[in-house]
Amino acid sequence: MTVRTLPDTLMLAEVAADWLAQRVALKPELTVLVATGQTPMGMYGRLAARVQAGTLDCSQVTAVQLDEYSGLAPEDPRRLRDWMMTSFVTPLRILKVVPLDDPATFTAELEALGGLDVAILGLGPNGHLGFNEPPSGPDAPTREVALTPESLLSNRHYWNGLDVPTRAVTAGMDVILGARETLLLVSGAHKRAILGAALDGPETPEVPASYLRRTALTVLADQEARP
Ligand code: PGA
Repeated sequence: MTVRTLPDTLMLAEVAADWLAQRVALKPELTVLVATGQTPMGMYGRLAARVQAGTLDCSQVTAVQLDEYSGLAPEDPRRLRDWMMTSFVTPLRILKVVPLDDPATFTAELEALGGLDVAILGLGPNGHLGFNEPPSGPDAPTREVALTPESLLSNRHYWNGLDVPTRAVTAGMDVILGARETLLLVSGAHKRAILGAALDGPETPEVPASYLRRTALTVLADQEARP
């Protein structure tokens, strides 16, 4: 495990962009699990700027959706698919996407691709990864789940006063932990305690992110999250 504390979110975004760009340079057809949420947006913006400048080519990358709310109409503005498309896939000019709708189709598509090379993840305030809400053990499969009160609350600020859907489909812990490398991005003092539990506490289903230590994990945190 590598843990780096960066002075601020700008440096976090830059170093995270470097991390992914290096991997794309080594393997242009990288298969990447893509988190939404606030934390990785700076990283995605940096990557998009590099693609625009012609210094990074992501045209052979496959983007894999991490999670999606259940029961939304195709045009609903809260779709996480659209957030992934507008923040990552379109600006990085990525052509191949594995959507997450039906768990069985998703699992078969990922298997056909040979699994994930890289998982880019944020950390839920309750220790969730994607919507693998506590308790989620390491073998939890891709499935539909009920969101916990913590996730309903933390997701509220994404949607400008709209309700947060109460159920979601998430890539399983088995998918995430099967990635050849994982990148966990954490920012803000409100994440300090849960990041400490994930990195320094016991492995437990109560903190799904604690299982990331089983992977080839890089943690990039800002000063407030990991002083
Ligand atoms: P955030 O969300 O990046 O918006 O803090 C992370 C998460 O809830 O998984």
